[in-house]
Amino acid sequence: METVHHDVLLIGGGGAGLRAAIAVAEANPRLTVGVASKVYPMRSHTVSAEGGAAGAIRPEDSLDEHAYDTISGGDWLCHQGAVEAFVREAPEELLRMEHWGCPWSRTPDGRIATRPFGGMKIERTWYAADKTGFHLLHSLYQTALKYPSISFHDEWFVVDLLVDGDRCHGAVAIELASGKVVALLARSVVLCTGGGGRVYPFTTNANIKTGDGMAFAYRAGVPLKDMEFVQYHPTGLPFTGILITEATRGEGGHLVNRDGYRYLQDYDLGTPEPKPVKRSMELGPRDRLSQAFVGEQEKGRTVESKWGDVVHLDIRHLGEKLIDERLPFVRELCRKYQKIDPVHELIPVRPVVHYMMGGVHTDIEGATPVAGLFAAGEVACVSINGANRLGSNSLTELLVFGARAGRGAVQEVENAPDRPPEAVLRRALEVERRIHGDLLLRRGEGERVATIREEMQLTLEANVGIYRERAGLEEAREKLRELRDRMKGVSLDDGSLTFNTELPHYLEMENMLDVAEAIVHSALNREESRGSHQRRDFPARDDERFLAHSLVRRSPEGEPRVELLPVTITRWEPGERVYGR
Ligand code: FUM
Repeated sequence: METVHHDVLLIGGGGAGLRAAIAVAEANPRLTVGVASKVYPMRSHTVSAEGGAAGAIRPEDSLDEHAYDTISGGDWLCHQGAVEAFVREAPEELLRMEHWGCPWSRTPDGRIATRPFGGMKIERTWYAADKTGFHLLHSLYQTALKYPSISFHDEWFVVDLLVDGDRCHGAVAIELASGKVVALLARSVVLCTGGGGRVYPFTTNANIKTGDGMAFAYRAGVPLKDMEFVQYHPTGLPFTGILITEATRGEGGHLVNRDGYRYLQDYDLGTPEPKPVKRSMELGPRDRLSQAFVGEQEKGRTVESKWGDVVHLDIRHLGEKLIDERLPFVRELCRKYQKIDPVHELIPVRPVVHYMMGGVHTDIEGATPVAGLFAAGEVACVSINGANRLGSNSLTELLVFGARAGRGAVQEVENAPDRPPEAVLRRALEVERRIHGDLLLRRGEGERVATIREEMQLTLEANVGIYRERAGLEEAREKLRELRDRMKGVSLDDGSLTFNTELPHYLEMENMLDVAEAIVHSALNREESRGSHQRRDFPARDDERFLAHSLVRRSPEGEPRVELLPVTITRWEPGERVYGR
């Protein structure tokens, strides 16, 4: 079997992966770095981020304000030490991006422009029109290309990690162009594969976001943390789920129901801030806005559409000039995918799954409990996002913690053995045998991957969505068991080696089932409502029992087991969630 050696292997070529790769190259140019990505790096999901990246820079802002908004927005489930490090390093990371080529939008006097975003009392979202992810990813990619020590394995699909005992030695991957299975051996590995929003049917997430890295870590014995916290973004296009950025509301857009009424005024979006802050109700926190949509739906005040119920986002009053200058991508998306022009028409929107606060359990340096294995970005849970992420923190998070994980991986290289144990190569061969000798030969009349995927997605949306309760969660748990069983009878139409796209879909499905199970079991265990996890049967936050992270591990029998880990509180005792109105 072919083997490729790197000192550090990054799995995932999006924002976190590229930032980590650059951090390694800068820290020690003698180390070889491999970036394995199932798509070309510029097709990673980071590219589709729109609204901006948070960092305290305005004179009226401070690191403490940023930390407080993050912690209160996260309903006190954030690791406060991690949040303090995050807000401190945020502005310097964003400035570094400017030096690497990111064209941040400017104020007329030439300073960095910021825009208001949901759940913040002070505007601190840096932006590049509404294509921030595109510009950020370009800047990272072109910078990464400068370093001779970084090499790219584009369109290589990682199947699993190579872990022996408590140390990670690399991963096994399929080179999609040839179907060849290769052992990618490394002294340190950083998972940067993003989230897994595709376990739900309506999501802003690209098709590639199938929770791969979370599943790899979980199977390797690393706990997944806070998986029950799944963020719905209140404004996605109804059929495609395409994101209509919060920046539309930051710039002054309104949400209206079927009567043209700004319905958010009827809902609790958080305790109003004592000192008056000029904020529109549309800039309340994402979890509360998504819950308000369900409230309107139950009152029969949403609008029926071919793709389910929607409300309307109205940006017509902002005018064509502002829309073209600050929200050009929103106009383009509405025209192309909804056949409407938001300069003149209302945009139909609904809450869609956007982000997973949970992920691979790491410390604040990105290290997991398995030696030599790190994680950063959405795949990881440090946690700075707690029970509900503050809008525009995630792009900054992948920079700050991508860099930290990269530096951590460099230090770990010293501790790794010169050669991986024989057991690691045997494991790689087993994976190769499974792919070439089993999966590719499974032809015939069995079930399709797509059927299993659709049933899983609809089950999660119905039972593990914006609101949950025990009976529905138990139903979801049983359904997932059934689907896992049915996976054994799935067959593939394509048995070829060259660019076989069906094979990765099968493997992604296995990963999504691991992720979905972790979500359901963690949600069942958390008998309270906090942030994005709302239990109708336990409607209150319960700090007594659940001011704690959920850690879900796979038992030796393959069943998820949930335990709790206390939250790190440094300076902000749990309190009420407060927002400017
Ligand atoms: O609405 C948005 O542009 C999303 C930003 C984010 O999730 O941080």
